[in-house]
Amino acid sequence: MPKVILHKNGQAHVGEIKENGNLVVCAGIKTFPFPHLSYGCGMGRCGKCASIIINGAEHLGAPNWKEERKLGDHLAQGYRLACQLWLSHDLELSQDGIDPALSVMTPGTVK
Ligand code: FES
Repeated sequence: MPKVILHKNGQAHVGEIKENGNLVVCAGIKTFPFPHLSYGCGMGRCGKCASIIINGAEHLGAPNWKEERKLGDHLAQGYRLACQLWLSHDLELSQDGIDPALSVMTPGTVK
């Protein structure tokens, strides 16, 4: 099972999720990383799940079109949308210091 380290509000939260699990789905059913993970729509629109990948990015799939649309240049800085990631390897990520502009709905998106 993938081990996840989530940095949030200056603390490191450590847990495991099932193989090919999604952090937003897990938080939505109140399992780790609940209640520490910030998220909203679960559909790649709101940006509230934006995270900076610290370790394990090499095991993630390529960003999909939703991440490319929402994150833009932030992708090159290591940002990903947690709701668009299905994990099969260990991952360390942070939701500290996230650009607040990412939580603003982009024009043309449906709330
Ligand atoms: S939860 Fe809204 S973009 Fe990920």
